[in-house]
Amino acid sequence: MKTLRVNLIGREYDILIEKNLLAKTGELIRKRLSPNKVFVVTDETVDALYGKTVLDSLCAQGFDTKLVSLPAGEETKCLAELSRLYSEALSFSITRKDMIIALGGGVIGDLTGFLAATLLRGIPFVQIPTTLLAQVDSSVGGKVAIDVPEGKNLVGAFYQPKLVIIDPEVLNTLSDRIFFDGLAEVIKYGLIADKGLFEKLEACDSRSELSEWIDEMVYTCCDIKRAVVEEDELDTGKRMILNFGHTLAHVAEKEYQYKTYTHGQAVAFGMVAISEIGEKLSLMPQGIRERIRNMVLKFNLPDYIELSGDLEKTIALDKKNEGAQLNLVLLSEIGCAKVHKIPLCEFVKQLN
Ligand SMILES: NC(=O)c1ccc[n+]([C@@H]2O[C@H](COP(=O)([O-])OP(=O)(O)OC[C@H]3O[C@@H](n4cnc5c(N)ncnc54)[C@H](O)[C@@H]3O)[C@@H](O)[C@H]2O)c1
Ligand SMILES: [Zn+2]
Repeated sequence: MKTLRVNLIGREYDILIEKNLLAKTGELIRKRLSPNKVFVVTDETVDALYGKTVLDSLCAQGFDTKLVSLPAGEETKCLAELSRLYSEALSFSITRKDMIIALGGGVIGDLTGFLAATLLRGIPFVQIPTTLLAQVDSSVGGKVAIDVPEGKNLVGAFYQPKLVIIDPEVLNTLSDRIFFDGLAEVIKYGLIADKGLFEKLEACDSRSELSEWIDEMVYTCCDIKRAVVEEDELDTGKRMILNFGHTLAHVAEKEYQYKTYTHGQAVAFGMVAISEIGEKLSLMPQGIRERIRNMVLKFNLPDYIELSGDLEKTIALDKKNEGAQLNLVLLSEIGCAKVHKIPLCEFVKQLN
């Protein structure tokens, strides 16, 4: 089993990565933590595939367990479902000595993490991410949130898990669309921090080739995120580099009401588009855009999305941006990100 330790003073935790780890959930928790009750939140799709494995392993260790299964999809990351979870957990008489598990993709991870952060002013929680995106990104770093009518992730907290259990075997049941959606973030990690990872992706042509080294891929990505989060837990500096390709991705997602494109598809386009601008402004070496473009196209991700809305306004409203200056994440080379400040109006000019 591969282990990564996230060193945040007073909030440190391990990320465990190994195939078939799901069946050992109970044991792993028993060894490190000592709850009486375990409240598991999942979605209906994941429940049908993996709910029993996790419950059986918890029950084998004698934990008093309750599982709540919510509808799958982004709509579930909302106040109404959160409110339902508060009631379900309280009727289970959960206390701060107990534990909450998020078993699912980023939707379940974010919602359940926010539940854990706020219920009784904080209950320990464990992430068991089941999508590629959740394994390499959302389960590590402690950002938890729900969506509100005014926008995505606008109500949330920083709340680190006590443990992250990653079983790459569960990725085999993902549809191609959701698998490649997560792969966009893997490509991003290679671009911002690990040239070797990027080149390894360049050498693969199919999902089955990627699956041969999926454990290593997930480990490498978690390690990159770990290092960034250790340096900037609360997202005030270094963590910005994780946003490579995300400025235009957020615009594209919003313009198509989060329906036409997945987050990863939007990020794929965003990475190509920002590199085009970087090269045009001579802020990035020539040729990187073409390599990113070839990569995203090879893995069924779009290199172009038509944008027609008021770009300046949308970008200005993005909570990651500060007023008239835009922090542009660019690459000084493949594997090395840098941040360049640019006036928002000048950036928008480049898009037209
Ligand atoms: N907290 C963070 O730092 C962070 C980072 C990135 C994204 N996010 C959030 O993550 C969310 C997206 O996460 P996601 O892409 O995992 O979406 P998701 O949780 O909706 O999962 C996508 C779909 O895959 C299904 N699924 C999950 N695991 C499966 C498996 N092993 N086999 C088959 N089907 C499976 C789910 O039921 C769902 O239908 C967004 O809400 C986004 O805001 C958070
Ligand atoms: Zn992202």
